[in-house]
Amino acid sequence: MKALSFRQPGLKDGRAVYELIKNSPPLDLNSCYCYLLLCDHFSKTCILTEYRSQLAGFISSYRHPEKQDTLFVWQVVVHKDMRGRRIAGQMLDRLISEGAPWASYIETTVTPSNDSSLRFFQNFAEMHETSCRTMRYMTKDLFCDDSHEEEILLRIGPL
Ligand SMILES: CC(C)(COP(=O)(O)OP(=O)(O)OC[C@H]1O[C@@H](n2cnc3c(N)ncnc32)[C@H](O)[C@@H]1OP(=O)(O)O)[C@@H](O)C(=O)NCCC(=O)NCCS
Repeated sequence: MKALSFRQPGLKDGRAVYELIKNSPPLDLNSCYCYLLLCDHFSKTCILTEYRSQLAGFISSYRHPEKQDTLFVWQVVVHKDMRGRRIAGQMLDRLISEGAPWASYIETTVTPSNDSSLRFFQNFAEMHETSCRTMRYMTKDLFCDDSHEEEILLRIGPL
């Protein structure tokens, strides 16, 4: 898609990211403070995309503290009007090449009912001709909120 631009976020983007996540169920909405910190301290491993100067997508991730070759993807979001155009994949490719060239593996979690998210990560693995393994990780009983689904761990790689 033409007119899409990609860049690392900064402190001033935190609020817009918060608003985008707020309007993107079923994502968990974290505090505005959390997004401000992510956009500042973790800007290297986060990326945003803009369409006509409006925020159209965002990925937060960080280097796994116990696995130095693994990028843990925390949240991926694309504006609801722009889904289905492989924008999330473009963001993740750029994030890795520019901010995390050391990443050989990607880990993330998905809830079993989130088909779009699961498809996105499976497609990403296929595009990179690598495997996507699934493991049980955060079971339902671990969450404070009874209505929270379990979170399955996906491990993609080697890239
Ligand atoms: C998951 C998400 C980031 C994918 O972004 P995207 O740029 O639309 O990704 P893709 O274009 O690669 O599409 C991925 C899948 O989304 C689904 N999809 C396609 N068009 C869609 C649309 N208009 N609306 C919703 N989902 C759609 C399809 O299942 C597609 O897989 P397929 O092409 O194999 O059928 C996006 O759907 C989103 O922001 N969802 C809400 C937030 C969320 O759940 N994030 C993931 C958990 S962290």
